[in-house]
Amino acid sequence: MAKVAFLGLGVMGYPMARHLKAKGHEVTVYNRTTAKAERWVAENGGRLGRTPREAADGQEIVFACVGNDDDLRQVTIGPDGAFEGMAQGAVFVDHTTASAEVARELFARGGERGIGFIDAPVSGGQAGAENGVLTVMCGGEPEVFAQVEPVIMSYARACRLLGPVGSGQLTKMVNQICIAGLVQGLAEGIHFGKRAGLDIEAVLDVISKGAAGSWQMENRGKTMNQGKFDFGFAVDWMRKDLAICLAEARRNGAHLPVTALVDQFYSEVQKMGGRRWDTSSLIALLER
Ligand SMILES: NC(=O)c1ccc[n+]([C@@H]2O[C@H](COP(=O)([O-])OP(=O)(O)OC[C@H]3O[C@@H](n4cnc5c(N)ncnc54)[C@H](OP(=O)(O)O)[C@@H]3O)[C@@H](O)[C@H]2O)c1
Repeated sequence: MAKVAFLGLGVMGYPMARHLKAKGHEVTVYNRTTAKAERWVAENGGRLGRTPREAADGQEIVFACVGNDDDLRQVTIGPDGAFEGMAQGAVFVDHTTASAEVARELFARGGERGIGFIDAPVSGGQAGAENGVLTVMCGGEPEVFAQVEPVIMSYARACRLLGPVGSGQLTKMVNQICIAGLVQGLAEGIHFGKRAGLDIEAVLDVISKGAAGSWQMENRGKTMNQGKFDFGFAVDWMRKDLAICLAEARRNGAHLPVTALVDQFYSEVQKMGGRRWDTSSLIALLER
């Protein structure tokens, strides 16, 4: 069993930390809004750190799942950041969806202190975190990955090292690029079917078993048809992720015309009041 800290008890981090504790690891938590960390400790036991540094002090592995690049910098190398409290040989595992650049930066800063760094964004959403069945995409050094993989499996169904530091974030970008175009295609299909007077549930039921089938169709098709979006992965988060993808594409020369267009559609959804709606809300633009 490992001595670990978890920084960031949000929608994802709260249940991920719970799985670590349930598997028998010694867990210390930190959350910017302390009341959430106090609730976590009251429910699960374990210890509370008042700062990232205090939570990370003396731990073998420090996990984080915060919002974006700047949030991640704050909890690692900011004042009272985790890196200050971590000993040589300890490993920082970042589950935030962030840029590959910040991963490389923190890998280098950690390296100066003998701290290992693995970028490890996740896929599977709130339900995946609650049920401990996330997919984890990792970048970093193989021997460091081998140290943390068994602990990550406390809340994952799949965890894979895809290359050097940054490779986890780059893989997550591929994931988000694939989702963006697909959801727009699905939205247009459902919109067209409605205009054609078809029974959409029957249509989805039959075509989901064929070549058009997808996770999005299985899990979001019905609710898109019903105009229900108050759940799932927020449009604000998706825009953050697509901005990361488009910035990386500018660097590596990839052409992402559909991704760029869908990003603009999401900005329209935000203007409609849909900042916290699920990403499947692209259909709302077609039906307004
Ligand atoms: N939700 C999903 O379905 C999903 C799926 C895959 C990946 N992700 C990614 O996972 C990450 C977290 O998502 P989430 O849904 O768990 O978000 P969330 O519910 O908004 O939680 C964010 C957490 O980060 C903390 N935080 C933010 N900025 C901070 C800062 N500057 N310093 C210290 N703590 C800070 C927040 O603390 P407070 O409690 O004080 O606000 C909160 O604990 C994001 O990068 C997101 O893109 C989310």
